Amino acid sequence: DEGVVRRDRFSGGPARSFLSSLAADVRIFEADLAVDRAHVVMLAEQGIIEDDVTGEILAGLEAVETEGHEALPDGEDVHEAIETAVIERVGPDGGKMHTARSRNDEVAACIRYRLREDVLETVETTLTLRESLLAVAAENVQTVMPGYTHLQPAQPTTVSHWALAYEGAIARDTARLLEAYGRINESPLGGAAFAGTPFDIDRERTAELLGFDSVVENSMDASSSRDFLLETVQTLSTHATTLSGLAEDVIVFANRGFVDLSDDYSSTSSIMPQKKNPDTLELVRAVSGDAAGAVQGLTTTLKGLPRAYNRDLQRATTHAWDCVDDVTEASEVAAGAVATADWNEAILAEAAGEGFSTATGVADLLATNGLPFRTAHEIVATAAEELEAGEDAPDLEAIDAAVENVLGEPLEAYVDPGAVEDILEPATSVASRDSLGGPAPDAVEEQLESAREALAAD
Ligand code: ARG
Repeated sequence: DEGVVRRDRFSGGPARSFLSSLAADVRIFEADLAVDRAHVVMLAEQGIIEDDVTGEILAGLEAVETEGHEALPDGEDVHEAIETAVIERVGPDGGKMHTARSRNDEVAACIRYRLREDVLETVETTLTLRESLLAVAAENVQTVMPGYTHLQPAQPTTVSHWALAYEGAIARDTARLLEAYGRINESPLGGAAFAGTPFDIDRERTAELLGFDSVVENSMDASSSRDFLLETVQTLSTHATTLSGLAEDVIVFANRGFVDLSDDYSSTSSIMPQKKNPDTLELVRAVSGDAAGAVQGLTTTLKGLPRAYNRDLQRATTHAWDCVDDVTEASEVAAGAVATADWNEAILAEAAGEGFSTATGVADLLATNGLPFRTAHEIVATAAEELEAGEDAPDLEAIDAAVENVLGEPLEAYVDPGAVEDILEPATSVASRDSLGGPAPDAVEEQLESAREALAAD
């Protein structure tokens, strides 16, 4: 057997293990068996290999599957090892399995076959996380909390509004993953080394047998492109970045006592007996670094690679496996941590008014009553400047003084003082901001409704 002879010529040498992807290829062991079967069945249907040989090869593949990847002979990769194992069982006719293909289209098909499954799992975890966030949102429509910009108290909002903000971002992560899935789910099989084959193969048929939606038409493109990997890793990295923000928020909220993580998602200290730390979310936050690293590593590996196949591509694949595992796990953990956390309404309500967070509400009220917003802003800023250290908000008297100061007339010349007193309450301030997508309970109920619909459609 020519192939075996040539292979032996290249089988030794100090670079053997450096060349081999066999260890990482465990991941595509099942995929390779599926790809082999589909290819062999197609070859038989096309009359390219005999039915009895086909039967023997399929039986050989069955035996290889039963014995598992641990029993594979050594090889440069799983494709070579499985082929060798089949030939060991079937004899030289086993070598007919590799008619009209190359490891180049074979490995591309295996990666796409396996990655489909992995990305669908990530999609599932994003759905679970969105469910967790929607449950938090549904329970906390009235739970007032501080909202921050620059991590400084800005305006009061609700836990529901906060949760829906992340749910919306993660819904877009789901959409991006599904789009990437569509481009993964195309068959490169039959591209051969890159230049197609003289055999009368049926690429549509192998695509169908392997559940691919379509074929990557150009055979050079099919065997050597990896932009589907890059797109997947970029999309995963985007999701990891969303998760890192969510994790950071919850870590900060735990610091303030706004939220209690369940013990299942907390860790303790080996020396400080009282500690309960949000380690799981810190690790979620860190996974965004790994994912960004995968994007960087993969991009750099692919940059400037000439067409067609180059062995560099072997090291491109593992970036994707590591990334999809890390991000899926981070997404799962974030979902669990969110679903099991307790929100402390009293502490949140207390904090919601910190840092004169109702200032914008007061300015909006003055402007609603006819003052130019810029004038109203100046009045409230004047009142804010007068605040004593540790004082959260001015009282009515101080606001009255500020109006006098700026306009030379008392507050009641412009607005009902009772309404000003009301709007100094964080809950009233939240309820007033009922514009589309705002934190007022009615507006949040509408967001909940559309988020639920979108989730059901995904
Ligand atoms: N194991 C290789 C990979 O992951 C596939 C083998 C192609 N090898 C070759 N010399 N053309 O890309």
